[in-house]
Amino acid sequence: MQTYDFDLISGLPVHPLIDHVVVVFVPLFALLQILIVFRPSLRPSFGLVTLVGLAVSTVSALIAEKSGEALADRVGNPGEHTEAGEQVLKVVAALFIASAIWWYLESRSSAESKIRKQLVSLTGKLSAVLALGAMVVTFQAGHSGAEATWLNRVNADAAMAGVTPGATAISGESIVVTAQEVALHSTSQDCWSIVNGSVYNLTSYVNSHPGGTANIQNICGKDGSIAFKTQHGTQGTPNNVLSNLLIGKLGATISGTAASEVTAPATGTGSEEGEEDDD
Ligand code: HEM
Ligand code: HEM
Repeated sequence: MQTYDFDLISGLPVHPLIDHVVVVFVPLFALLQILIVFRPSLRPSFGLVTLVGLAVSTVSALIAEKSGEALADRVGNPGEHTEAGEQVLKVVAALFIASAIWWYLESRSSAESKIRKQLVSLTGKLSAVLALGAMVVTFQAGHSGAEATWLNRVNADAAMAGVTPGATAISGESIVVTAQEVALHSTSQDCWSIVNGSVYNLTSYVNSHPGGTANIQNICGKDGSIAFKTQHGTQGTPNNVLSNLLIGKLGATISGTAASEVTAPATGTGSEEGEEDDD
């Protein structure tokens, strides 16, 4: 009954781990596939290994998609990256199928059978085109994923454009971020909100929100999921900004200091996230 959602491993997200397999294996075996299609002399040495490599790539792409969805539930949907990521499994699976058919036909091809030779040529070329496509979509997904994760952190100006410092001092060692706790932060000087099961410290963003101060004020101390989803859905920039203001998942135990540091862009980083426990 229980399905494994590839969410966490040793308390850390599976997604960055499996992404490394995808971004190494897909280009490597896609390139090998192109080589063995156009260089028959390489087939005995690399034919089978390429097919196995493409099978592993397909499974990795599937796990990358599942783990990406699980991570998006935790940190927010990274818009463009999700769209790019969704292409990878489709193209890599198609490449694997085309390569398997090509390999099967090619290894059984006899010199006399003209139709079979044409089929071998056709499926070979198709697999080469798909191999190129797989490299492109993998690059796009990997690049957009890395951008979603890192761009705002290494480029504070881009990350927090317009964000003004806001200080929400919280005393005490640790707190549990419940809806009741969120309700205590309901003013524009101290504004927390819940979006899709996670709690965000929006204090530093109230006065710089491009859609106006009032729209953020309205969700301070409350669950703003519907308002946020209705206005922004999976739009990349709002979701990226939001992920930089994360305190933790609803129900998580976090340090009060970490929660207040979410609103400390004056130091230049502005992207610290509160520590997060399992719910
Ligand atoms: C539907 C599919 C996918 C979803 C929903 C998804 C979701 C995510 C999320 C939520 C993040 C974290 C972003 C952040 O912290 O702001 C991420 C990071 C990343 N993703 Fe994906 N992803 C998907 C597919 C893929 C695929 C197929 C690849 C591989 C080509 C990939 C490569 C990456 C990379 C390289 C990172 C950065 C990891 C790091 O540096 O820590 N993703 N993705
Ligand atoms: C909760 C955190 C929120 C964040 C981080 C956020 C972020 C953003 C960002 C980055 C933009 C500029 C988008 C762009 O230039 O592409 C924006 C625009 C806007 N936002 Fe938000 N937003 C939030 C909540 C809301 C809510 C709750 C509402 C209304 C119910 C709202 C209404 C708007 C409107 C009307 C715009 C202007 C749209 C436009 O110019 O086309 N936002 N927001």
